[in-house]
Amino acid sequence: MDLKQLSAFVAIAESKSFSAAVVTTGLSQPSLSRLLKQLEIDLGVELIDRYHRPLQLTDAGQFFYDKISSLLTELDTVISMTQRLSSPSMALNIGFVPSVLYGLLPEIIAELKRGRPDIEVNLKDISSYQQIEALKSGEIDIGFGRFAHLDPWIQQILLRHERYVVALPKDHLLAHGGELRLLDLANNRLILYHQTRLSLPSPAITTEPLLHLFAQHGISPVMTTTVSDLQVALGLVAAGEGITLVPASLKTVRTEQISYQRLVHENATSPIYLHTLKDIVHPKIADLLQATYAVYERRGITYRRQSFL
Ligand code: BEZ
Repeated sequence: MDLKQLSAFVAIAESKSFSAAVVTTGLSQPSLSRLLKQLEIDLGVELIDRYHRPLQLTDAGQFFYDKISSLLTELDTVISMTQRLSSPSMALNIGFVPSVLYGLLPEIIAELKRGRPDIEVNLKDISSYQQIEALKSGEIDIGFGRFAHLDPWIQQILLRHERYVVALPKDHLLAHGGELRLLDLANNRLILYHQTRLSLPSPAITTEPLLHLFAQHGISPVMTTTVSDLQVALGLVAAGEGITLVPASLKTVRTEQISYQRLVHENATSPIYLHTLKDIVHPKIADLLQATYAVYERRGITYRRQSFL
């Protein structure tokens, strides 16, 4: 049994057709058939039921696919990390979710560059769970996100908890009344925008954070709409389609159409995490953390100082 056979099997299993696997692997159809047949002979197990169109995995084939595909992904990560260890990137590639860009990210980058004028920084807008794959592939060295990740390759620091505020259309009855309770919002359409899939290999689905927060207060909003991101959610609020909760640093967005109100609940917060690989910590990450804490101190933000291992 060898790597070529395993890769051919994964490609056929994923595309459910020999001809599509020809395109993804660059191998000819006879070569793919031969590799698959040899793998089945070596295992003594039929992996693919060839009589169905599209092709179907047998039960044993499905089990083998689930295990082998994550092992091959891990192998890619190991190869890419080994190559990076021998030639580390000079630039610091930073992934971020859009909500931190509206907040302190620009100030933190300016602080970093003030202390280290020679540093080259590249910023990439990447969703929280895609950051984990981007860290493993080397596309980014560090990621700022809003979700904790349980991944054996990743370490994380919780930077702080940021208060949520309520975003309401300017003409909403609650738009000018001051501090609100979640209970006051229960009869409104709540717009949800978090992407809740955790990083692979964990197949778990997290609870949507806003629904989780309402549930903690014993409330189930009567109507919800789910959209792809924060910008779209604020667009819908501006159009009078509902309300949402956003981290407080967003409260300068679309202020002509949206009113932002404080929540009374102190636990209504969104965390900000910093993620990097466990085995490769870019040498400039310590400077980035230092710059982040310098900005927190200047602004009087409460935080607990931490460092990566
Ligand atoms: C913050 O708001 O705490 C923050 C934003 C961007 C990067 C790091 C921290």
